[in-house]
Amino acid sequence: MTQTATEQGKVFARILDPASRANPYPLYARLRETPISRQDDGTYVVSTYQEIAALLHDPRISSDERKSSKEAGALAASGKLTPAGQPSNPPFIFLDPPEHDRLRRLVIQQFTPERVEGMREHVVELVNHLLDAKKNSQQIDIVDDLAYPLPVTVICDMLGVPREDEPRFHKWATLLARSLDPAQGISEAELKQTIQAATEIGEYMNGLIEARQKEPRDDMLSGLLASYRQAGRGERDLLVTMTLLLVAGHETTVNLITNGTLTLLRHPEVLEQLRREPDLVIRVVEELLRFDPPVQFRTRTTLTDIPIAGVTIPKGAAVALLLASGSRDPRRFTDPERFDPRRSDNEHLGFGGAIHYCVGAPLARVETQVALSILAQRLLNPRMEVDPPPYRENASLRGPEHLLIRIDGIR
Ligand code: HEM
Repeated sequence: MTQTATEQGKVFARILDPASRANPYPLYARLRETPISRQDDGTYVVSTYQEIAALLHDPRISSDERKSSKEAGALAASGKLTPAGQPSNPPFIFLDPPEHDRLRRLVIQQFTPERVEGMREHVVELVNHLLDAKKNSQQIDIVDDLAYPLPVTVICDMLGVPREDEPRFHKWATLLARSLDPAQGISEAELKQTIQAATEIGEYMNGLIEARQKEPRDDMLSGLLASYRQAGRGERDLLVTMTLLLVAGHETTVNLITNGTLTLLRHPEVLEQLRREPDLVIRVVEELLRFDPPVQFRTRTTLTDIPIAGVTIPKGAAVALLLASGSRDPRRFTDPERFDPRRSDNEHLGFGGAIHYCVGAPLARVETQVALSILAQRLLNPRMEVDPPPYRENASLRGPEHLLIRIDGIR
């Protein structure tokens, strides 16, 4: 049954409601009846694959929330989240060309395939180590015991943060993660805590930058420092970028590993295939990025009127690109509601697209592939305690808060 525009205009509010967190997908299907719908709060929601892909490529739409008539939704987008409140550019995820491209290029140069693939063995060791710590348990929380600690340790190692300083990064990453999120309301107390974390991380990073200036090493920080200098960029920009790398890859990777474990437990036949055929993990991870992705939507602002799919989105409008809905669009994918790692056509939107396509995608793939294949091999008779598990409130960076699993042991 098709809905009226009035009904359509209320669906996004229901998606944001925590009550929908465990399964927002039926609501996405309702939104797709109209590719672009104006919501009651004035946001334009784009829910179909073709239109999302078109807008990701459209230079008339901006990632810079300072160009919006509304107050920037995400704290980091405002440029206010800097050590001791000194204003600076927002991180490049919230910038447009040409500035975005310049800063992004400096980072891409450092994410070489050799450096990322070179992390694989190390990630194997880390995952095994985290599981060894639970060896005698009958229960494991995939979030607390594995998915949460892993990405921070990996990015710290890659950047060149000394091991003994890592616990502080876990705290900072958790506090700063919410600053990238457009949909997250933030209280005064949280704001204070987040600025405090930005200040602390800034001070710490400054010390590390100084150390690498004196004595460069074979780590990503030394590489970034050299390329920033060569490009005539100051240390403030480098600091903002390093914080972005820490934060953008944190909760996203946590959620992909957790969503992945959850989906495999709900599809025991695929888990069994994965045990017998370890290489299947590459396809499992790609299908997860389509089927249950960590980033459900991203927001943009229109720089001019944009006519698309029979609607004109007016200049200055807030636009939500519903990536997770596009990846389940039946006009684009065969049998999209089915989790099928063997599907041949899987150009999902899980890492976004076009100029803002995820810089950390190769690293996130390595981490999740390793984590899921080791879980499949080592957990004995895993079964879920509660299904659905409890979810965190966040609608755009969506994932379980805990995933408790009963096991007969760990191999
Ligand atoms: C951008 C998803 C892991 C760094 C993005 C975007 C998505 C995404 C959807 C596009 C944002 C937009 O268009 O506004 C994910 C997912 C991950 C993941 C699902 C894990 C499963 C990582 C990791 C890092 C990282 C591990 C770094 C270590 C970035 C950066 C950008 C970005 C720097 C901004 C790119 C730009 O604006 O040019 N990510 N990400 N991400 N991601 Fe990731």
